[in-house]
Amino acid sequence: MSQPPIAFFDIQRQHDSLRTELNAAALDALNSMQWLLGPQTEKFEKDFAALLGVKHCISCSSGASAIQLALMAAGIGPNDEVITSPFTFIATTSSITLTGAKFVFADIEPDTCALSVQSIEQKITAKTKAILPVHLYGYPANMPAIKALAEKYHLTVIEDCAQSLLASVQGTKTGGLGHAGAFSFYPSKNLGACGDAGAITTNDDILAQRCRSLRHGGRNQEREYEHTLEGSTLRMDEVQAAILRVKLKHLPEWTKARQQIAALYAERLQGLPLALPPASTADYTHAYCVYTIQASQRDLLKQYLKENGIASAIYYPVPLYRQPAYQHLGFEAKDFPVTEKVCQKVLSLPMFPELTRQEVFRICDTVRAFYKK
Ligand SMILES: Cc1ncc(COP(=O)(O)O)c(C=O)c1O
Repeated sequence: MSQPPIAFFDIQRQHDSLRTELNAAALDALNSMQWLLGPQTEKFEKDFAALLGVKHCISCSSGASAIQLALMAAGIGPNDEVITSPFTFIATTSSITLTGAKFVFADIEPDTCALSVQSIEQKITAKTKAILPVHLYGYPANMPAIKALAEKYHLTVIEDCAQSLLASVQGTKTGGLGHAGAFSFYPSKNLGACGDAGAITTNDDILAQRCRSLRHGGRNQEREYEHTLEGSTLRMDEVQAAILRVKLKHLPEWTKARQQIAALYAERLQGLPLALPPASTADYTHAYCVYTIQASQRDLLKQYLKENGIASAIYYPVPLYRQPAYQHLGFEAKDFPVTEKVCQKVLSLPMFPELTRQEVFRICDTVRAFYKK
């Protein structure tokens, strides 16, 4: 008898376990007649900031808008350059472009897939105003070195935390390491809304106040129809806030479950021609938004898993400098040798808190069987 398929991410299991609570919370918010910037949003922001150990959380409409708002609040715009990774989702760079600034790519580290500090320093010019590290897959970038570089050159650091919720460096959670952090609550993220939502975190009172104003049309907080800044409509709604509040309570235990699944994968995938993702250490904790190996014969392995009913994904098959949308910018792949190599090998295996031990065993046995063929 053939075995049931294993999904890459099974959101149904999480939703089923919380269905009654989620339905009640969403309905209450819907019937409250306070659909924007009401009590649910306020409470969510307070609880999220407390969980992350930061002074402020400013909710917004998506991870992309969180990046855009944080940059705008930091005063970044036309004629400024922002150094970031080419090995990320396009929202990282499109959000920079939306501020009027220009993104500049540095290369990445082969093991963590995060920005290479040496490469960042090579890209700094008189126009550089910010560094935008991406904590890819849930593993933090080398923030102590990035912060030292930022201090040396007087740069702002905005963290792309879309994949790194509850990851930390030396005890400080991502989102509290740079000047501001940008989070996504896209449904498949470690904390997923039932739609789009995001948030900015910061310890800086002025940045926080500017983000609050910018997401809400640039309003002056005291005089309603006075616009101190030119903002936009980038708020999160109350229904999403109510849903996120239900899920937020479970986030620490879900993160632990992800880390246990990762440990099980690491144990069972030893000795194969593949590189495992970095494990958590005393200094760096991994949030395992996805579990990404670097495998030889990656495409054949992916196909073999599929034939055996196991889903997997490639984040990202095409680096941003090779995207058609950026063809006019004239990037050359040879300038990013590490990214070029890594994008041929990365393969993300199923990872979600409800994934069972038996499923992990089956996935690992299938990977082993592929390399023994
Ligand atoms: C690294 C990274 N940055 C930014 C984003 C954008 O988040 P959103 O989809 O909520 O706009 C994502 C979402 O996939 C992401 O993975």
